[in-house]
Amino acid sequence: MPIIPGEVCIGSATFFSFVAVLLLIFTHVGQLNTSTIPRGISMVKMNVSGFGDALSQSHAGDSAAGLYTTNATAPLEEGDGLRQIYAWGFYSHCAYVAPEQGICSNKSQPNLFQPFDTMVADAPAKFHTVTQFIVPNSGFTDSSFLGSLSRGAYWLCFIGSILAALAMIL
Ligand SMILES: *[C@@H]1O[C@H](CO)[C@@H](O)[C@H](O)[C@H]1NC(C)=O
Ligand SMILES: *[C@@H]1O[C@H](CO)[C@@H](O)[C@H](O)[C@H]1NC(C)=O
Ligand SMILES: *[C@@H]1O[C@H](CO)[C@@H](O)[C@H](O)[C@H]1NC(C)=O
Repeated sequence: MPIIPGEVCIGSATFFSFVAVLLLIFTHVGQLNTSTIPRGISMVKMNVSGFGDALSQSHAGDSAAGLYTTNATAPLEEGDGLRQIYAWGFYSHCAYVAPEQGICSNKSQPNLFQPFDTMVADAPAKFHTVTQFIVPNSGFTDSSFLGSLSRGAYWLCFIGSILAALAMIL
């Protein structure tokens, strides 16, 4: 077996830890704001553009008029209307009415993945009851379960990022 010089081992270990740190930094900046790089990176993307049709075809048979907003800068979670696409990062989630037009939530640490609560909070008040009625109880609507999973995942990635940085430096 050929003997690999120590410098090669240390050099390649440093290189790969550097790449790991870089990728983790990208993960941390995902969905912090709507500019190009953070916009493309997310933990979860959710397309709710079909929900209006589902709502108007449900037993409730309500019209979905006014369910969505087309105002990309309307504040989130204030009943101003659903957006088409939601994307979650570690520290905030962003909502887009069109591929490049959206707004991000205020930053918190960690930002919990609670898609159903987010949907209900954005939907105008008159849709709250019917939304809760037609979306079946499932993992998707169990916000405390999803929230605690995402909190755990966040802290594991946070510790992992620090350890990757230490590995690179050391
Ligand atoms: C969202 O879903 C709709 C309907 O399935 C589809 O037409 C649209 O292209 C999707 N949008 C994105 C950004 O994937
Ligand atoms: C969009 O929402 C923002 C924030 O509420 C508001 O200032 C703006 O006037 C709205 N734009 C339109 C076209 O309604
Ligand atoms: C962030 O918080 C400020 C003040 O609490 C509020 O005015 C603003 O609408 C919030 N932004 C979003 C996107 O909800």
